[in-house]
Amino acid sequence: MDVVVLASGRGSNLGAILRAADDGRCAARVAAVVSDKPDALALELARSRGIQTAVLPFTKGDDRAAWDARLADTVASFAPRVVVLAGFMRIVGPAMLARFPGRIVNVHPALLPCFPGTDGPAQAVRARVRVSGCTVHVVDAGVDTGPILTQAAVPVLDGDDADRLHARIQKAEHRLLPATLDAIARGTLELGPPPRVVSPAESDDRMLVSPALGEPPT
Ligand code: GRF
Repeated sequence: MDVVVLASGRGSNLGAILRAADDGRCAARVAAVVSDKPDALALELARSRGIQTAVLPFTKGDDRAAWDARLADTVASFAPRVVVLAGFMRIVGPAMLARFPGRIVNVHPALLPCFPGTDGPAQAVRARVRVSGCTVHVVDAGVDTGPILTQAAVPVLDGDDADRLHARIQKAEHRLLPATLDAIARGTLELGPPPRVVSPAESDDRMLVSPALGEPPT
């Protein structure tokens, strides 16, 4: 299954997808990485692996709709089945949603619908919840509001600040996102609408990985 990954930052989730694909744990091929930030480490990682890249910087004052249309054209030129937002810090607009209806997925560092937006881990620490986690969901026109595909729970420990919690959540993301893409690629998880688990694995009572994904790798 060809995917295009959109990333603005470090690209650790991109790395996790690539490692899982190398190990045969994720039947997704990253056809290209697209970023709004020319200096995103995710682009360096892609180039080091011989993966095609494209950069579409957004500068203050740019026309949002025109930028979104350019993004849609660029992503479409790589013909992905699924578009993956992995730390993409811009909201995708109507042109992207129209070009890839129900085929854009995002990884978010909280258990949605709690703590949407840019600071999920900080919100969890402030709320003093004992469990947070990460969510992979289908992107719609809202901010982190689309249908939930999979989730993984992560404990919030005494003394956690946003960075410590985010680091722990990212470890879970690095398992959850590749596993979710693999389930989509293999057809055991349909993007919908509405998303549907086609062949549920045995229930996993450790609450680490959504039952749709079965046993986590050890
Ligand atoms: C992840 O924690 C993801 O949940 C959020 O942005 C972060 C991206 O991290 N949307 P990375 O660039 O993949 O390391």
